[in-house]
Amino acid sequence: MESLTAQATRFGSSILDRADTLAAISERPAMLARSYLTAQHRQAGERVLAWMREAGMRADFDPMGNVIGRYEGANAGAPAIVSGSHLDTVIDAGKYDGIFGILAPIACVAELHRGGSRLAFPVEVIAFGDEEGTRFGASMLGSKALAGAFHEELLDRRDAEGVSLREALGRFGGDAAAIARLRRDPASIRVFIETHIEQGPVLLEAGLPVGVVTTIAGASRVHVKVEGEEGHAGTVPMALRRDALAAACEMVLAVERRCRATDGRIVGTVGKISVREGGAINVIPARVEFTLDVRSGDDVERRRAVKDIESEFLDRAAARGVHLEWTLLEEVAATPCDAIEQERLGEVIRAMGMPVRRLPSGAGHDAMQLARVSPIAMLFVRCGNGGVSHSPRETLSAEDAGIASVVLLRYLQSVT
Ligand code: GLV
Ligand code: MN
Ligand code: MN
Repeated sequence: MESLTAQATRFGSSILDRADTLAAISERPAMLARSYLTAQHRQAGERVLAWMREAGMRADFDPMGNVIGRYEGANAGAPAIVSGSHLDTVIDAGKYDGIFGILAPIACVAELHRGGSRLAFPVEVIAFGDEEGTRFGASMLGSKALAGAFHEELLDRRDAEGVSLREALGRFGGDAAAIARLRRDPASIRVFIETHIEQGPVLLEAGLPVGVVTTIAGASRVHVKVEGEEGHAGTVPMALRRDALAAACEMVLAVERRCRATDGRIVGTVGKISVREGGAINVIPARVEFTLDVRSGDDVERRRAVKDIESEFLDRAAARGVHLEWTLLEEVAATPCDAIEQERLGEVIRAMGMPVRRLPSGAGHDAMQLARVSPIAMLFVRCGNGGVSHSPRETLSAEDAGIASVVLLRYLQSVT
């Protein structure tokens, strides 16, 4: 019998090789960036399709651009165990965020197929087309569709080039008219389990390769426009200016102050800011746009913080004579993982001789959407390099990838 270490090594090195293959499929030459419904999404999806088919699954793109593979179980008509994560990336991304959660379950199914075995349940693996929300300003579009949470007005969202989601979906070969039919019947899913790189330092500091997620933080995302008045940088006296960028800077610092005052219960980020046409060295900025992302495990606290931030922005805008436009892009509630499935995952980890570490997720995940139609579980794998993620400096060791995949395989085998 192959040892656990040998099996984990085999899984881990093949997963890291495949992550390298996908990381080479990027829209930008010098960095990894792969957004929803692009040629690179298609190309990466085709690779994943081929790996799924090689692992004995029936697989195809769905009308949202998700790639779905299915490995039948021994009992016809049993609900499926579904596992997956996202194929899109942030701009200048690491190689494992999302991708690991696609490659690990494919490796597990390949292992079942290799041994000619089937579980009582079918296993489905999903590579969601969009989770990061970088292109259309709304996140988790692929998993929202499967969870029945995709609202039709999302189809009118436009990317930076003015292309609507509806148009992009059509060009990709998707089918907007079919989205409503994608909602999964809760009776068709036994459990959804997502494996994901932790994207933080907790497991690294604890010296543990894996951990069980207890709950996923909720989020509010806002688009802010500040409008002042342009003017000559050399002639307009300081007291008479309506400088939109200076006002925006005060707002950014107000976010930091409000969130810092909560002892880590709330985090807030302005991740993107722009001055109209990039600004100029000798022009007072008249129009600035920026994004705001606020997260917490406590929905009531998060909403309160967002309200406070909005009223602080209004005060700052009034004091500086600039106009503020505040558009709430989306809100996702904090989502607990299923208690029984947390216990089951913990049992698998314990049986492999490792301590069970439970931890919350500060990042959002597709599992939050699937929770609308299924119990959910999440397994975190240790993130190297100080826990950095959403960065090309994100690392995952082959050993940890292998151990986490074996945990996933044993979990799949233990579901009753
Ligand atoms: C996804 O990575 C998110 O949490 O923003
Ligand atoms: Mn991410
Ligand atoms: Mn992710």
